[in-house]
Amino acid sequence: MEIILIAAGAYLLSSIPFGLIFVYLFQGTDVRRHGSGNIGATNVFRVGGAPAGLLTLLCDALKGYVPVLLAIAAFPGTYMYHIAVAVICLLGHSFSLFLRFRGGKGVATGLGVSLALLPLPTLAVAVLFALVLLVSGYVSLGSICAAVALPVVTLFTNVPHSYLFFAIAAAAFVVVRHRENIGRLLSGTENRLLWKDRGRG
Ligand code: G3P
Repeated sequence: MEIILIAAGAYLLSSIPFGLIFVYLFQGTDVRRHGSGNIGATNVFRVGGAPAGLLTLLCDALKGYVPVLLAIAAFPGTYMYHIAVAVICLLGHSFSLFLRFRGGKGVATGLGVSLALLPLPTLAVAVLFALVLLVSGYVSLGSICAAVALPVVTLFTNVPHSYLFFAIAAAAFVVVRHRENIGRLLSGTENRLLWKDRGRG
Protein backbone atom coordinates (compact mmCIF):
# COMPACT_ATOMS: atom_id res chain seq x y z
CA MET A 1 0.00 0.00 0.00
CA GLU A 2 2.79 2.39 0.96
CA ILE A 3 4.55 1.86 -2.38
CA ILE A 4 1.32 2.57 -4.27
CA LEU A 5 0.98 5.87 -2.42
CA ILE A 6 4.61 6.77 -3.15
CA ALA A 7 4.17 5.81 -6.82
CA ALA A 8 0.95 7.80 -7.19
CA GLY A 9 2.52 10.79 -5.42
CA ALA A 10 5.59 10.48 -7.64
CA TYR A 11 3.48 10.60 -10.79
CA LEU A 12 1.46 13.59 -9.57
CA LEU A 13 4.56 15.49 -8.43
CA SER A 14 6.60 14.77 -11.53
CA SER A 15 3.67 15.77 -13.72
CA ILE A 16 3.90 19.35 -12.43
CA PRO A 17 5.28 21.38 -15.37
CA PHE A 18 7.50 23.75 -13.39
CA GLY A 19 9.05 25.23 -16.53
CA LEU A 20 5.67 26.20 -17.89
CA ILE A 21 4.68 27.71 -14.54
CA PHE A 22 7.90 29.71 -14.07
CA VAL A 23 7.84 31.17 -17.58
CA TYR A 24 4.23 32.22 -17.03
CA LEU A 25 5.23 33.82 -13.72
CA PHE A 26 8.39 35.54 -15.00
CA GLN A 27 7.35 36.43 -18.58
CA GLY A 28 3.59 35.94 -18.77
CA THR A 29 3.90 33.69 -21.79
CA ASP A 30 3.68 30.01 -22.74
CA VAL A 31 7.19 28.58 -23.06
CA ARG A 32 5.85 25.97 -25.50
CA ARG A 33 5.33 28.74 -28.06
CA HIS A 34 8.94 29.87 -28.00
CA GLY A 35 12.44 28.58 -28.64
CA SER A 36 12.58 24.81 -28.94
CA GLY A 37 9.04 24.56 -27.58
CA ASN A 38 10.24 22.33 -24.75
CA ILE A 39 9.14 22.91 -21.14
CA GLY A 40 12.56 21.93 -19.77
CA ALA A 41 15.08 24.13 -17.96
CA THR A 42 17.10 24.85 -21.14
CA ASN A 43 14.24 26.39 -23.02
CA VAL A 44 12.97 28.12 -19.88
CA PHE A 45 16.45 29.65 -19.53
CA ARG A 46 16.25 30.93 -23.13
CA VAL A 47 12.70 32.25 -22.91
CA GLY A 48 12.24 33.15 -19.24
CA GLY A 49 15.81 34.09 -18.26
CA ALA A 50 18.40 32.60 -15.94
CA PRO A 51 16.43 32.71 -12.64
CA ALA A 52 13.46 30.92 -14.20
CA GLY A 53 15.77 28.42 -15.88
CA LEU A 54 17.68 27.65 -12.69
CA LEU A 55 14.47 27.35 -10.65
CA THR A 56 13.09 24.94 -13.24
CA LEU A 57 16.28 22.89 -13.17
CA LEU A 58 16.08 22.69 -9.37
CA CYS A 59 12.37 21.85 -9.14
CA ASP A 60 12.42 19.38 -12.05
CA ALA A 61 15.42 17.63 -10.47
CA LEU A 62 13.80 17.59 -7.00
CA LYS A 63 10.60 16.05 -8.34
CA GLY A 64 12.71 13.07 -9.35
CA TYR A 65 15.10 13.05 -6.41
CA VAL A 66 12.62 13.24 -3.52
CA PRO A 67 10.24 10.40 -4.50
CA VAL A 68 13.14 8.02 -5.27
CA LEU A 69 14.82 8.92 -1.99
CA LEU A 70 11.52 8.24 -0.18
CA ALA A 71 11.22 4.85 -1.89
CA ILE A 72 14.80 3.97 -0.91
CA ALA A 73 14.19 5.03 2.70
CA ALA A 74 10.86 3.16 2.94
CA PHE A 75 12.05 -0.03 1.19
CA PRO A 76 15.84 -0.14 1.56
CA GLY A 77 16.46 -3.56 -0.03
CA THR A 78 13.66 -3.61 -2.61
CA TYR A 79 15.51 -2.29 -5.64
CA MET A 80 12.59 -2.86 -8.00
CA TYR A 81 10.52 -0.36 -6.02
CA HIS A 82 13.27 2.26 -6.29
CA ILE A 83 13.43 1.73 -10.03
CA ALA A 84 9.66 1.70 -10.44
CA VAL A 85 9.44 5.08 -8.73
CA ALA A 86 12.35 6.42 -10.82
CA VAL A 87 10.63 5.30 -14.03
CA ILE A 88 7.33 6.84 -12.90
CA CYS A 89 9.07 10.17 -12.25
CA LEU A 90 10.60 10.19 -15.74
CA LEU A 91 7.26 9.26 -17.30
CA GLY A 92 5.39 11.82 -15.21
CA HIS A 93 7.68 14.60 -16.41
CA SER A 94 7.53 13.53 -20.06
CA PHE A 95 3.86 12.45 -20.15
CA SER A 96 2.35 14.88 -17.68
CA LEU A 97 -1.12 14.42 -16.30
CA PHE A 98 -1.53 18.20 -16.54
CA LEU A 99 -0.36 18.58 -20.16
CA ARG A 100 -2.48 15.95 -21.89
CA PHE A 101 0.35 13.46 -21.49
CA ARG A 102 2.96 15.62 -23.15
CA GLY A 103 6.02 17.07 -21.44
CA GLY A 104 9.78 17.43 -21.27
CA LYS A 105 12.76 15.38 -22.35
CA GLY A 106 13.63 13.94 -18.95
CA VAL A 107 17.06 15.46 -18.39
CA ALA A 108 16.60 17.43 -15.15
CA THR A 109 14.18 14.88 -13.68
CA GLY A 110 16.57 12.14 -14.84
CA LEU A 111 19.35 14.00 -13.05
CA GLY A 112 17.25 13.95 -9.86
CA VAL A 113 16.37 10.27 -9.98
CA SER A 114 19.88 9.18 -10.91
CA LEU A 115 21.38 11.36 -8.17
CA ALA A 116 19.23 9.39 -5.71
CA LEU A 117 20.01 5.98 -7.24
CA LEU A 118 23.55 6.46 -8.54
CA PRO A 119 25.12 9.52 -6.90
CA LEU A 120 28.76 9.01 -7.92
CA PRO A 121 28.18 8.05 -11.58
CA THR A 122 25.71 10.94 -11.84
CA LEU A 123 28.24 13.45 -10.52
CA ALA A 124 30.81 12.09 -12.99
CA VAL A 125 28.51 12.47 -15.98
CA ALA A 126 27.45 15.92 -14.76
CA VAL A 127 31.08 16.96 -15.24
CA LEU A 128 30.99 15.49 -18.76
CA PHE A 129 27.76 17.38 -19.44
CA ALA A 130 29.34 20.66 -18.34
CA LEU A 131 32.41 20.07 -20.51
CA VAL A 132 30.37 19.27 -23.63
CA LEU A 133 28.15 22.30 -23.02
CA LEU A 134 31.16 24.57 -22.52
CA VAL A 135 32.89 23.37 -25.67
CA SER A 136 29.87 23.09 -27.97
CA GLY A 137 27.27 25.49 -26.53
CA TYR A 138 24.62 22.77 -27.06
CA VAL A 139 22.73 21.61 -23.96
CA SER A 140 21.12 18.85 -26.01
CA LEU A 141 24.52 17.41 -26.99
CA GLY A 142 25.65 17.58 -23.35
CA SER A 143 22.43 15.84 -22.25
CA ILE A 144 22.79 13.06 -24.83
CA CYS A 145 26.48 12.49 -24.00
CA ALA A 146 25.74 12.44 -20.25
CA ALA A 147 22.79 10.05 -20.69
CA VAL A 148 24.85 7.62 -22.80
CA ALA A 149 27.81 7.86 -20.42
CA LEU A 150 25.71 7.10 -17.31
CA PRO A 151 25.37 3.32 -17.84
CA VAL A 152 29.00 3.12 -19.00
CA VAL A 153 30.27 4.80 -15.83
CA THR A 154 27.82 2.78 -13.72
CA LEU A 155 29.37 -0.44 -15.07
CA PHE A 156 32.52 0.40 -13.12
CA THR A 157 30.72 0.89 -9.81
CA ASN A 158 29.34 -1.57 -7.32
CA VAL A 159 25.58 -1.07 -7.59
CA PRO A 160 22.65 -3.51 -7.89
CA HIS A 161 22.29 -4.91 -11.42
CA SER A 162 18.78 -3.54 -11.62
CA TYR A 163 20.17 -0.01 -11.16
CA LEU A 164 22.46 -0.60 -14.13
CA PHE A 165 19.50 -1.77 -16.25
CA PHE A 166 17.65 1.36 -15.19
CA ALA A 167 20.60 3.51 -16.29
CA ILE A 168 20.58 1.81 -19.72
CA ALA A 169 16.81 2.26 -20.13
CA ALA A 170 16.91 5.87 -18.92
CA ALA A 171 19.75 6.66 -21.36
CA ALA A 172 17.74 5.19 -24.24
CA PHE A 173 14.68 7.15 -23.13
CA VAL A 174 16.56 10.46 -23.00
CA VAL A 175 18.18 9.85 -26.41
CA VAL A 176 14.80 9.05 -27.99
CA ARG A 177 13.28 12.18 -26.41
CA HIS A 178 16.07 14.16 -28.11
CA ARG A 179 15.41 12.78 -31.60
CA GLU A 180 14.45 16.20 -32.96
CA ASN A 181 17.57 17.72 -31.38
CA ILE A 182 19.68 14.98 -32.97
CA GLY A 183 18.21 15.84 -36.38
CA ARG A 184 19.01 19.52 -35.83
CA LEU A 185 22.52 18.74 -34.56
CA LEU A 186 23.18 16.68 -37.70
CA SER A 187 21.84 19.41 -39.98
CA GLY A 188 23.67 22.18 -38.10
CA THR A 189 20.46 23.95 -37.07
CA GLU A 190 20.33 23.06 -33.37
CA ASN A 191 19.50 25.81 -30.85
CA ARG A 192 22.31 26.78 -28.54
CA LEU A 193 21.63 27.59 -24.89
CA LEU A 194 21.51 31.31 -25.60
CA TRP A 195 19.83 30.97 -28.96
CA LYS A 196 17.70 33.98 -29.79
CA ASP A 197 14.02 33.18 -29.83
CA ARG A 198 12.18 33.53 -33.13
CA GLY A 199 8.87 32.62 -31.51
CA ARG A 200 6.34 30.01 -32.54
CA GLY A 201 3.39 32.20 -33.39
O1 G3P B 1 16.85 19.17 -21.37
C1 G3P B 1 16.59 19.33 -22.70
C2 G3P B 1 17.85 19.77 -23.39
O2 G3P B 1 18.74 18.71 -23.48
C3 G3P B 1 17.54 20.30 -24.77
O3 G3P B 1 16.59 21.32 -24.66
O4 G3P B 1 15.25 23.19 -25.45
O5 G3P B 1 17.44 22.71 -26.54
O6 G3P B 1 15.52 21.16 -26.90
P1 G3P B 1 16.18 22.13 -25.94
